[in-house]
Amino acid sequence: MKKFFVFISLSMMVNFLFAQTAETIVLNPPVMDRGTSVMKALSLRASAVEFDTAEIGIQDLSDLLWAANGINRPEEGKRTAPSAINAQDVDIYVFIKTGVYIYNAKKHSLGLIISNDHRNLIADRQAFVTKAPVILLLVSDISRFKFDNDSLIMIWAAEDAGIVSQNISIFCASAGLATRPRYFMNRQGLRELLKLKDSQHLMLNNPVSYKKRQGT
Ligand SMILES: Cc1cc2nc3c(=O)[nH]c(=O)nc-3n(C[C@H](O)[C@H](O)[C@H](O)COP(=O)(O)O)c2cc1C
Repeated sequence: MKKFFVFISLSMMVNFLFAQTAETIVLNPPVMDRGTSVMKALSLRASAVEFDTAEIGIQDLSDLLWAANGINRPEEGKRTAPSAINAQDVDIYVFIKTGVYIYNAKKHSLGLIISNDHRNLIADRQAFVTKAPVILLLVSDISRFKFDNDSLIMIWAAEDAGIVSQNISIFCASAGLATRPRYFMNRQGLRELLKLKDSQHLMLNNPVSYKKRQGT
């Protein structure tokens, strides 16, 4: 009976999270001892070819974002993903059914950018992507590189985003989630939607869902 009530309240929390467009979503502290070993996660990592539509729970979303590019050394403000000259140029925009949020690593929270479902702009011509309840969009703001060499800066931006994307892939493999790193998306539509500055470059996106069970 107790288990039943825990299940109900957890499901209510998940539904609450995705039922309304909150201005801020406060994430849970990361659970440090979850998941498989790194070697097991590496053996499981694969780009998903299908996504489940079930909403992602708040703890999984919290851990996913922390693993992707959260702060792991608060005293120095440094992150789970390295970045060239510690520019910390990669921001994560989180697309869910109710809106688009930006991940605030310092506060470990999500701030609303715009309401409504815009996942189709990321899916573009790969319609199966819209099934994923969460899509993480990696945007590099190259103005954070205080360095005078434009071609080098674009290489660093791509490398930094690639590392964040790989953090996502390894976390997902370890936690039983499905993801796929993707270059393709509707870049013009997303630039307009998110009102990006010229210095903000759309690098990669990672749709994320629970692993699709056979027959669902
Ligand atoms: C930089 C990069 C961009 C990618 N872009 C896309 C994409 O736009 N659409 C897609 O379906 N897969 C994309 N992929 C996934 C690759 O197709 C996939 O990694 C490759 O087929 C190898 O499969 P695996 O990841 O399961 O090993 C991309 C992968 C990388 C690393």
